[in-house]
Amino acid sequence: MADILNAFMENQEKVVIDTDRKLRIGIIGTGGIANSHMKAYLAMPDVEIVAGCDLVPGRATAYMKRHGVVGAKTDYKDHREMLADKSLRLDAVSVCTYNRQHAPCAIDALNAGVNVLLEKPLCVTMDEAYAIREAEKASGKVLSIGFQPRFDANMQMIKKIVQSGELGKVYYIQTGGGRRRGIPIGNEASFIRNDTAGIGAMGDIGCYSLDMVLNAIGYPKPLTVTGYKSDFFGKDPGYCRYVQMNDPSLAEKFGVDDFAAGFIRLEGDIILDFRISWALNIDTPGDTLILGTKGGLRIPSTDCWNGSVGGPMKIYKEVNGEQTCVTVPIIKEPQGSPTLWEKKIRTFLDAIKNGTGAPVPLSQIIINQAIIAGIVESAELGREIEIKL
Ligand SMILES: NC(=O)c1ccc[n+]([C@@H]2O[C@H](COP(=O)([O-])OP(=O)(O)OC[C@H]3O[C@@H](n4cnc5c(N)ncnc54)[C@H](O)[C@@H]3O)[C@@H](O)[C@H]2O)c1
Repeated sequence: MADILNAFMENQEKVVIDTDRKLRIGIIGTGGIANSHMKAYLAMPDVEIVAGCDLVPGRATAYMKRHGVVGAKTDYKDHREMLADKSLRLDAVSVCTYNRQHAPCAIDALNAGVNVLLEKPLCVTMDEAYAIREAEKASGKVLSIGFQPRFDANMQMIKKIVQSGELGKVYYIQTGGGRRRGIPIGNEASFIRNDTAGIGAMGDIGCYSLDMVLNAIGYPKPLTVTGYKSDFFGKDPGYCRYVQMNDPSLAEKFGVDDFAAGFIRLEGDIILDFRISWALNIDTPGDTLILGTKGGLRIPSTDCWNGSVGGPMKIYKEVNGEQTCVTVPIIKEPQGSPTLWEKKIRTFLDAIKNGTGAPVPLSQIIINQAIIAGIVESAELGREIEIKL
């Protein structure tokens, strides 16, 4: 199956990019992930990086220098100053700030008439999510959310299998992932502080697990959530990474979840059993399972969950009374294929140029966010809650 797919991909026509129309791009937040955005933008022949900004003085200038970008303006104290500079004639921005700054930056950019590629997770609270939705609607601009695993052929295969009907009616899904020890810290501890990240493992890697399965089944609405979250590792001054960094004060800064679980009822009588972790005392919290009336799909987990399929998937089916299992090999893209990051950026640019919809639309990711926000709310209340979108 992999050979057929590889041959198919090799025979795809090369896409011609209209380089006459260059898109003028600004980067909001020039910390860690902005480097991946920049590398992908620099691979596009129809992009001009015209500006960048960061709250930390000098960080945006150093970023442009590091990537060899000449002539981009960086003398802004924050995203508002950059968006107010009309001389930039921005077509689009990448919002690469920490989670708590996703909503303000995306909303301000949309209100300024600029297209937005917003890093994941969408935001932190549902009030922010609704405000982003209002701004998107009012602006008529493209807002795409940064879920690059969507462009992985193996992820796309999961959707193809489910949508083909091979599994019958899907009624139960187990998903999530984990790391034994893998709390990311980030610049200025931005991943673990409540005032910057707001959500921890759920927003960092949980949103990928949710997207993997919800995208496959067509993003049905969530109805109820029972959630749990904890912070036993993050709050421990003896956590191995803090010890390595010789900085036990990180435990005091830790203000998010390092583990979360949720039991979610979805429209269509589907149960979603989810757990995600940055640190736990087990090798893996389990593979992703999609159970249907005619077949089951097992998607192997990875040691360090980051939104990639961990190995060949298996489809379990009954054939003429016999219990069978088919292995779906990992699809390897032909050498020289665009990276997932290049695909994420290219599809965003094409959506702007062609006036087509966002490649990873808010209408779907707002459901992803509602589940995460639902887990937080349910965990804090200590009971099941209803989700109203
Ligand atoms: N798609 C992926 O694979 C992926 C991987 C890692 C991180 N991320 C996401 O990217 C985001 C950023 O992560 P990071 O590792 O780059 O964090 P980071 O802390 O290294 O960088 C964020 C930067 O944004 C700046 N910033 C915050 N608010 C700003 C504002 N209003 N104006 C200008 N600058 C502002 C900060 O000063 C900081 O330098 C997070 O939301 C994270 O979830 C995505």
